[in-house]
This record gives sequence, structure tokens and C-alpha cells, in this order.
Amino acid sequence: MTAPRPTLAAREAAAFGKVILLGEHAVVHGVPALAAGLPRALVLRARPLDDPRGPTELSIPAWDVRVQLAPGDDGAMHPVARAAAEVLALCDAPLAGLRIDGETTLPAGAGLGSSAALCVALARLALGPGAPAEEVVEASMAGERVFHGSPSGIDSEIAARGGVLRFVRGRPPEPIRPARPLPLVILPTGVPRRTADLVAHVGRFVRREPAVARPILEAIRGCVERGQAALEVGDHATLGRMFDACHGLLSALGVGHRRLDDLCAVARSAGALGAKLTGAGGGGCAIALAGDDPHRVAAAAATAGCTAIVTEIATA
Ligand code: PMV
Repeated sequence: MTAPRPTLAAREAAAFGKVILLGEHAVVHGVPALAAGLPRALVLRARPLDDPRGPTELSIPAWDVRVQLAPGDDGAMHPVARAAAEVLALCDAPLAGLRIDGETTLPAGAGLGSSAALCVALARLALGPGAPAEEVVEASMAGERVFHGSPSGIDSEIAARGGVLRFVRGRPPEPIRPARPLPLVILPTGVPRRTADLVAHVGRFVRREPAVARPILEAIRGCVERGQAALEVGDHATLGRMFDACHGLLSALGVGHRRLDDLCAVARSAGALGAKLTGAGGGGCAIALAGDDPHRVAAAAATAGCTAIVTEIATA
């Protein structure tokens, strides 16, 4: 008897990348954060393998990912394979007989939500285009835990929903509507780092030095609230000041990096209204809120050896 062909609920699924505008790290400790989606940042396409019993293959050339999902040998598996297997298993989807190919515009491991985009797109492949975002997010979190230990969930929410979201850990996210499109310049440092290590570093600082760390978290809360109000009325000058303040506060929590400071300074000198690290820090990316000329900021970054990504966060 021939084995039945494994099928998924969808042939193609996409997910958003993300930038955290304000509130990273503090969000792990209960402070709100604002995140924005980068559209169709990852697209996955699935097709059946000739051998329906062969282990499912996942290939994303831009990230140098080429793994097989073999059930049962967890310890030996590549983390990407383990995360993918967790997501598909939670969705009751087949682990055999499929070939999944990914196309992406996101650099991996740079704080732009690559892992959450992968987990969300896999969950969408398995659950189908009509699946509610809550279900997609829940399934994706099984994979995100493999990558990041105990993530707040903000990356999965934005990867699934896009737009601009206000997120408080453990609560449903709230969509935010910017009054004007937000011209952002993403500045990758090329410095690798591990989100889980940086989150643990901040956690230790908060536990050991609460009298110092807690007021910093509260100041970040202030930046988030003031930044959200500014976003909602299109006051980019104030939002830019909140970016600058937040960058300093994150550095005080110990997640800065000299390259991030340098790129933020270059962006500000080229007319950006503000600049900060985004995501876990320690490397990864910075974001600059451009004034009237995002390309001037990108050109200045290029002279500093950084290939910037110019993007615009839409109003709805
Ligand atoms: O995925 P990254 O590296 O952009 O960082 C995630 C944001 C953190 O607030 C640092 C961690 C979290 O789980 O919210």
C-alpha cells in the first residue's frame, strides 16, 4: 500500500518582519512596547516530496538554512529544525513528505523578527489562511521558545498581524494608528548577538540592582507613552526625542554596543529626528526616524560601512 500524501492547509504563507519602535527589554518586565510590521518579509511555499515518508525539508537560502525535520531526535536537531518541528507538531501537521522553501528580505538574527516570521509563516502553512491570528501566534510561540527561551510574545504578534501594535505581555495587542507614515531607516550593525543572553543579562540586572534598574524601566515606560501619543498625532520631532532617550536607557541596562552608538550618531548628523537600537541590542540593528530625507540618512550610513534598509511604516 502506498503512503497517503501529506498535505498542509496552505501552499504558501507569509509573515511580517518587525521593528520594535519603543519598549524592548522593558516589555519582558511588564512595560508596554510599540512594534511595527515589515510587510511580506518572509514567504514560505510548500510542495509534496516524491517520497511521502521522507523527512520534511526546510530550505531558506538567504539564511543558509537547509534542514530536515525528523521526528524523535530532538537533541541532535538543528535549532531551526527543532523550532519548525515544534510548530508543526502543535498544529497537528505532518513532519514527513514535504519540501518547504522560504524567500526573505530579512537578515537573520539581527533583531528584525526573523525567527518569529519563520514560526508564524509555518503555523500559517499548517493552519491555513483563515486561521485566527491568536491561534497562529500560539502555535508560533512553541517555536519561538526553542529560539529564545521565554520570549514576551511581541515578535510573534507583530509577525502575524503587522501594522503598529501596542503590546503588554500576557494581554491581547492593541493596534495603533500613526497619524502620518513613519519614514524609518534600518541600520544593521552586522554584529551577531543572542537575544536569550541579552534578555537574561537585563533580568539579572533587574534582580540584583532593582533600585537602579526599576527606575530605568519606568523611564522607558515614559518614552513608550510619550512616543505613542506623538505617533498618534504625527509629532515626529517628539517621537525622535523618545528614540534618542530610549537608546540611552537601553545602554544603561547594558544592551548597547559601540557600533550601535556610532550608527545612531551618523544618522542624527544626517538629519534623522532620532535613532535607537531596536530589539535585543548588543549588535543587531538600529533604527533612525528620518526627517524629510531618509535617503540622506542611508547615504551617510553607507559612508560608515553600513548597508541601510529604507522603509516606511504606513498609517493603517
Ligand atoms: O527578537 P529581538 O532580538 O528583536 O528582541 C526581542 C525583544 C526583547 O524585548 C528584547 C525580548 C522579548 O521577548 O520581548
